[in-house]
Amino acid sequence: MSDSKKDDNLPAGVERRQFGGESRLATQGSPVYGEPTDGNWRCWDARRSKLAAMLEREMDTELQGDETVLYLGGASGTTVSHVADFSGATYAVEFAPRPTRDLLNVADSRNNLFPLLKDARKPATYAHVVESDVDVIVQDVATRGQARVACENRQFLADDGRLLLAIKARSEDVASDPETVFDRARESLKEAYEIVETQRLEPFHTDHLGVVAVPR
Ligand SMILES: C[S@@+](CC[C@H](N)C(=O)[O-])C[C@H]1O[C@@H](n2cnc3c(N)ncnc32)[C@H](O)[C@@H]1O
Repeated sequence: MSDSKKDDNLPAGVERRQFGGESRLATQGSPVYGEPTDGNWRCWDARRSKLAAMLEREMDTELQGDETVLYLGGASGTTVSHVADFSGATYAVEFAPRPTRDLLNVADSRNNLFPLLKDARKPATYAHVVESDVDVIVQDVATRGQARVACENRQFLADDGRLLLAIKARSEDVASDPETVFDRARESLKEAYEIVETQRLEPFHTDHLGVVAVPR
């Protein structure tokens, strides 16, 4: 059942619906990872998705629905399957072969989802496939140098596009205080982006920073 209150910060194609008596985000598409469903609607769990957590925290993603998306860190498709449910062409870069195989299965029922077995630190290797001027880059790569990856992929983003980035502190430096790690990342991002908003993603994800940024 759809919740009657319309959420202004949700893109078209994402709704709040009741699952198990709780109001949760949901998109319409074929199920992927055993998530609860209600007819065609699939529950999108913010504890399993940084982008869903950013929406739950009401960050200023400005997602409208139907955008073209470059998704970095596709993994097995948990989040990018939801993204493809409400977006246009969605290019999903993942460098590990095993999850990419799962991603190919997810793409079987989504003709706008294009999995790419590529390293997000080497954008030249997929520049010939990804269309130019995408509306949105979503990034969730648990690797060192997350801000650098975002800067290197800026080339794909339209001048009026948005970067929606999740930074995992422990992937940068397990020993440092997360706030110190986030400060460094914010500084590095300034090379290619102007930061619109940052928020910690607790309680959904510990020691993660959500970042919304626009190209400089
Ligand atoms: C936290 S998981 C992503 C989860 C996924 N975004 C989701 O919500 O469904 C991080 C993923 O980034 C991938 N990754 C790490 N470094 C990468 C790189 N340089 N290029 C592409 N993928 C990378 C990992 O293999 C892993 O699957």
